[in-house]
Amino acid sequence: MRKDMLINGTPLSDRLGRSLRDLRISVTDRCNFRCTYCMPREVFGPGYQFLKRDDLLTFEEIIRLAGIFDALGTNKIRITGGEPTLRRGLNDLVTAIRQKVPTTELALTTNGSRLAEFAYGLSKAGLDRISVSLDAIDEPTFQKMNDAFFPAGDVIHGIEAAVSAGFAPIKINAVIRRGVNEHAIQDLAERFSGPAHIVRFVEYMDVGNSNNWQMTDVVPAAEIAARLESSGLPLMPLPPNYIGEVARRYRTPTGGEIGIISSVTQPFCRDCHRARLSSDGHLYTCLFASKGVDLRTPLRSGATDEAISDLIASVWSNREDRYSEIRGSTADPSPKVEMSLIGG
Ligand code: GTP
Ligand code: 5AD
Ligand code: SF4
Ligand code: SF4
Repeated sequence: MRKDMLINGTPLSDRLGRSLRDLRISVTDRCNFRCTYCMPREVFGPGYQFLKRDDLLTFEEIIRLAGIFDALGTNKIRITGGEPTLRRGLNDLVTAIRQKVPTTELALTTNGSRLAEFAYGLSKAGLDRISVSLDAIDEPTFQKMNDAFFPAGDVIHGIEAAVSAGFAPIKINAVIRRGVNEHAIQDLAERFSGPAHIVRFVEYMDVGNSNNWQMTDVVPAAEIAARLESSGLPLMPLPPNYIGEVARRYRTPTGGEIGIISSVTQPFCRDCHRARLSSDGHLYTCLFASKGVDLRTPLRSGATDEAISDLIASVWSNREDRYSEIRGSTADPSPKVEMSLIGG
């Protein structure tokens, strides 16, 4: 459903003609994993300064912003982290967002570590969809990637609980790194081949400043597809579910679905309709941005909904981000926002 806001008689659109449809809200910058590609232990160790409680947007502030974004035309809200289930009272927040924006699709991206405990409550709270990150199903590889000794078996148990709670199909995101978990491509495709799961393979990206990303660590989408096909899994292309969907979708012979997210080798900026709200209340218009626009200060200093809405609309109207399309050709040395602050 489209509900584009008219600003002075025209739909809210950025400088490249993209409307604002999708809002990702990070509810905490903390995580119980230390995935080497996102929060490497050397950087996010015991001395790392996470946000203090006062720095985080409160539930009231998040709910208020959800309403303002909704009125500006967003159709989907995705709750992220860090790891969102670490935010105390998450179910209450979901319930309240659901009430505030009843027609907006409400989704959650989680590492699955606490899903067995949370799935049923989230379903009761009105959440529509869950995506789970799972980079391998064999224990040595998964534990090497999460670097927190967290068992893959527990995440799989969480995924099963989410299916039982009515969330099928569950999307399972696997970031593939050269020489680390390439074998997981086939393992995951086989393990989650039925209609209750959609496995999506994600090209390893140069997000943040901590993961020492190199192009040689990326397994390109074309190679992922070729590996699946040569393992006896012919892929039939499917049309996107919506304009700007990040994954290319494929039907498998068993009636399952597989997705490949190729931000590096086949960027999809042209159709990027996503805004991101960091856990400390800054608005980012690209996953690779260096700076966000502070919404927390106006929220806390008495600004009206109209004033905040105008600020968001003005930021969006001036947006011209397309980092993945121009990767490597920008000379901007500014540090990028960390993934754990804006949730991917
Ligand atoms: P749905 O399409 O609603 O299922 O969600 P999604 O794929 O937008 O969200 P999800 O959190 O599952 O993200 C999947 C992967 O795509 C993650 O690795 C994200 O970091 C990546 N991703 C999501 N949005 C963008 C984007 O705008 N740009 C880039 N480069 N990557 C993105
Ligand atoms: N490259 C690709 N995907 C990443 N994610 C986190 N860091 C990276 C990266 N460097 C993914 C997580 C999760 C989603 C929100 O982003 O695995 O599925
Ligand atoms: Fe945590 Fe997700 Fe980052 Fe891994 S990718 S460290 S699970 S926020
Ligand atoms: Fe959108 Fe930035 Fe990702 Fe391009 S790189 S798709 S503009 S978030």
